[in-house]
Amino acid sequence: MTIKALEFVGPMDENTKIADIGCGTGGQTQTLRENTKSSIMAVDLIPQMIEKLKERIWENSLGKRIEGIVASMDNLPFRDEEFDLIWAEGSIYHMGFERGINEWKRFLKHGGYLAVSEVTWLRENPPKEIKKYWTDAYPEIDFTSVKLKQMEKAGYEPVATFVLPEYCWMENYYKPMLPLFDKFLEQQSSSESARKFVEEMKEEISYFEKYKDYYSYTFFIGRRY
Ligand SMILES: C[S@@+](CC[C@H](N)C(=O)[O-])C[C@H]1O[C@@H](n2cnc3c(N)ncnc32)[C@H](O)[C@@H]1O
Repeated sequence: MTIKALEFVGPMDENTKIADIGCGTGGQTQTLRENTKSSIMAVDLIPQMIEKLKERIWENSLGKRIEGIVASMDNLPFRDEEFDLIWAEGSIYHMGFERGINEWKRFLKHGGYLAVSEVTWLRENPPKEIKKYWTDAYPEIDFTSVKLKQMEKAGYEPVATFVLPEYCWMENYYKPMLPLFDKFLEQQSSSESARKFVEEMKEEISYFEKYKDYYSYTFFIGRRY
C-alpha cells in the first residue's frame, strides 16, 4: 500500500526530502527508500523503534539516505518548509488527524505532498456496538468526505484517497500479533497493564472480524497549496 500511495506523489529525486512520522521499526521507511532517490528522516517516539530501524538500515545496507530520530509528532524538531513529502502510515491518530495535518503543514514546501492513513467509516449507520467502540477509542473517526473537507480547510489540495484492503489489517497486522501475546505476557510476568493491553487488542480483533464492512483505514494524499 505504501507503493500504491507513492504513485500519487510527484517525482522525487536526490534533492527531495521525506519525513516518515511514527515510523515504527521502519517497514515503510525501507519501502520509501527503495522506491525513491530521496533522503528520509524517520521519527518515532519510542527509542526501541528507532534502534530496530537502525538495525534494519544496517542489515539491509540501506546506507546514508535514512536518518532515524526519537521525537514526538506534536513537537517535531523540523524547519519550516524542510520537506517535499510527509508520510504517516497508521500513526497520525496519536495526535489526531485534524491537528496533525494542520501542525505538520508548515514543515512542507508549497507544492509538497502529505500521505497519511486514517481510520474511517465505510458505511452509514454502523451498529451501535461498533459505533460506541470506535467513538470511545478514537472520537475523530469519520467519513472520507469529512476528512477531505478538513484537508482543504487546512490548506491541502486533495490528490487521492483509497481504502486499505482487509488483508492489511488481518494478514499484516492482527494475525502476526496473535501468537506473540503469550510470550509477551510471560515476559511481562502477566502484569495488570500487560493483561489489559492483550485483552484490548483481542477485543479490537474480534470487533474487526465482526464489523469489518463498516470501517477501514483510508489513505489520504494531499498537496500543500
Ligand atoms: C501503528 S504504529 C505504525 C508504525 C509504522 N508507521 C508502520 O506502519 O509500520 C504507530 C507508531 O507511532 C508511534 N508513536 C506513537 N505516539 C507517537 C508520537 N507522539 N510521536 C511519534 N511517534 C509516535 C508508535 O511508537 C508506533 O511506532
